[in-house]
Amino acid sequence: MIPNQRHLFEIPDDVAYFNCSYMAPLQRAVKEAGHMGVSRKSAPWALKPADFFTESDTARALFARLLDATSEDIAILPSVSYGMAVAGANLPIDPGSDIVVLDQQFPSNVYTWCELAAEKDARIITVRRNAGESWTQAVVRNISTTTALVAVGNVHWADGALLDLEGIAQSCRAHKAELVLDLTQSLGALPFSISAVQPAFAVSAGYKWLLGPYGMAFMYVRPDYQAGRPIEHNWIARKDSQDFSGLVHYKDDFQPGACRYDVGERSNFALMPMSIAAMEQLLEWSVPQIHATLSDLTGELAGRAEELGLQVAPPDERAGHILGVRFPRGMPPGISESLAQHRVYVSIRGNAMRISPHLYNSGADVDKLTRVLRDFA
Ligand SMILES: Cc1ncc(COP(=O)(O)O)c(C=O)c1O
Repeated sequence: MIPNQRHLFEIPDDVAYFNCSYMAPLQRAVKEAGHMGVSRKSAPWALKPADFFTESDTARALFARLLDATSEDIAILPSVSYGMAVAGANLPIDPGSDIVVLDQQFPSNVYTWCELAAEKDARIITVRRNAGESWTQAVVRNISTTTALVAVGNVHWADGALLDLEGIAQSCRAHKAELVLDLTQSLGALPFSISAVQPAFAVSAGYKWLLGPYGMAFMYVRPDYQAGRPIEHNWIARKDSQDFSGLVHYKDDFQPGACRYDVGERSNFALMPMSIAAMEQLLEWSVPQIHATLSDLTGELAGRAEELGLQVAPPDERAGHILGVRFPRGMPPGISESLAQHRVYVSIRGNAMRISPHLYNSGADVDKLTRVLRDFA
């Protein structure tokens, strides 16, 4: 177990912040890295051509370590929707084929597929669970010989319900379907290994469980998709872009690996040092340790919620870092106001209260949240 890390953040004592799924608070060191990054733009004469490359490479390598890939497999993006657009531009989707998504999935992993389905004359299949069925069983039940693509995450974003991606990947392989992952609500807090799943693309926003700034995201691209079509064409992705004086000797070839999909101005001098500092800290803590520590905390909360007659998913169907709590008669009126009044921060998503802690949460935070739950149980 990792001891409490609240001292690394700037969270006031009276704030119980259980909302990492919404927006992670910055660590002091990450904020300082951002200040350093911003001030470099005040002295551009000190920026060297190599600076456009070295930090990007460092960030790629750190992100690759989080999912057990190599740096060449990683592209630097501004958002999940950008990554999905890249995936959509490169996946083979035949007329009459199916694209499988979860019911109430996060829109950035839905809209691209709706557009693509309309363009290619394909069909969206929205997976709903039957009574007693897990998400994994429901997804697998919907994969068939007409499936072109399954686009899901490792957890449902609204309540942390867990998907067995290895099982889903096996079914995809058996039906020659591709798998695209949005790991935004899990990577950095839930152990994941790319080699066990082998998706075509896997994207994660950087500002939640990667504890980084808003506006930076990263994408794994499986090697067989690394020679595909970027959705924009920028100078730095092309061969020999290190040679600034030769940039107008236009090149048809790209730099090696997934970086052909990098967003323009990917060497973001303000945000990149923040992403790097945050991912270094995550790797130092280690994702399995983070997950074990957060599982302990959500396990404690789940036990208390059940004692109060509230509903949570069984331990094998929920991730350890997000707990969805449901009230048997629906979300009680006035609970949002009460949470705000007590400075307890969670999200209400659909009919679930989504509780998403991190290493800054203390026993006192857990007690405070329990008191609000008790008032409305
Ligand atoms: C599962 C998931 N994916 C993606 C995002 C963000 O998407 P984008 O980067 O396109 O804004 C969020 C934000 O809440 C999310 O919960």
